Amino acid sequence: MVTVRVPAKVNVQLGVGGVRPDGYHDLANVFFAVALGDQVTATPGEGVTLSCTGPDAAAVPLDDSNLAARAARLLAAHHGLADPGVHLHIDKAIPVAGGMAGGSADGAAALLACDALWGLDTPFETLLALAAELGSDVPFALLGGVALGRGRGELLEPLPVTGIFHWVFAVADGGLSTPAVYRECDRLREEAGLGSSAADIPDPDADPALLAALAAGDPVALAAALTNDLQAAAVSLRPSLAATLRAGTEAGALAALVSGSGPTCAFLAKDADAATTLAAALRTSGTCRTAHPTHGPVPGAQVVSAPRP
Ligand code: C5P
Repeated sequence: MVTVRVPAKVNVQLGVGGVRPDGYHDLANVFFAVALGDQVTATPGEGVTLSCTGPDAAAVPLDDSNLAARAARLLAAHHGLADPGVHLHIDKAIPVAGGMAGGSADGAAALLACDALWGLDTPFETLLALAAELGSDVPFALLGGVALGRGRGELLEPLPVTGIFHWVFAVADGGLSTPAVYRECDRLREEAGLGSSAADIPDPDADPALLAALAAGDPVALAAALTNDLQAAAVSLRPSLAATLRAGTEAGALAALVSGSGPTCAFLAKDADAATTLAAALRTSGTCRTAHPTHGPVPGAQVVSAPRP
C-alpha cells in the first residue's frame, strides 16, 4: 500500500492571453501550493478501480473520466504494462470543481502512488511530461511550492519564496466548469471590443511586484499584487461570488480573489490567528458553504508513511 499527500493550488497571478488556435490560452500563471490537500492511497487490485471519501465525495466521478484513473492507465501504458492492477482510494478535502485543481492533484498523486506501488522508478522529468498530458495543472501538483507556469500552465519555473503565507478558502455550493469560465472570459473581451484571440490580447507576463512580494515574504505587498484575469468571468457566471469576496474583505482579509476559475474564493490573511478569525466570520456570513484556514507554500505530491485517520 502506498499513500501520497498532494496539495491544492491557488493562482496568485493568473494572467490570461488570447485564445490560441488549439483552443487553449497562453498564461502567466503563478501557482502557489497550499496545505489544504487530498490523499490518494494505492493498493494492489484488478484493473483500475476508484473509491472516494470526504464531504464532497458524492460529486467525484469514480469512472475512467477521473484524472486519477487516467493517470494510472497513462503510466501503465508508458511502461508497456498490459494489465495494470490498482485500487485508488481518494481521501478528498479539496473542493470539487472549485478552481483549486483538486482533480489535477489526484491525477498527480495517482502517478506517484502507482509508480511506487508498481516499483517503476520513473524519472521525475518523465512524470512531469506524463502529468502535462493529463492536464494543464497536473505538473504543478507534482512540483508544489510556488512556480510560474507558462504555455497553458504546464511549463514550470520554480520561484523563490520566503516564509509562510496564511490563507482562507471559502467553498461555494456546486462547482464551475473551467472551459465555461475561459469561454466567458473570451466573451467578455469580445463584448468590451478587445477581441479574444492571441493576436488581439498581449501576451501576459509575471508581475515583478508580485515576484518581489513572494521573495520578501511580505503578505501586505502580495495582497496588493494578487490578480486573476478569470475573476470577472467567474463572477459573471456566478454573481453571488461578489458577496463572498466582499464578506471576506469586510472581515479583515488583506485581499480577496477568486481561486483560478472559481467558484472557491481565496483570502490572504496577515497571520495564522487572523486566518482562523476570518474563516469563522466567513462561515457565519451566509455567503459560502464553509471556509477553511490553511497556509503555504507546501511541497508537491509526496509519499507519506501512513494515511491520515
Ligand atoms: O488542460 P485542462 O484539461 O485542465 O484544461 C481544461 C480546459 O480549460 C481546456 O479544455 C480549455 O478549455 C481551458 N484552458 C484554457 N487555457 C489553458 C488551460 C485550460 O483555455 N491555459
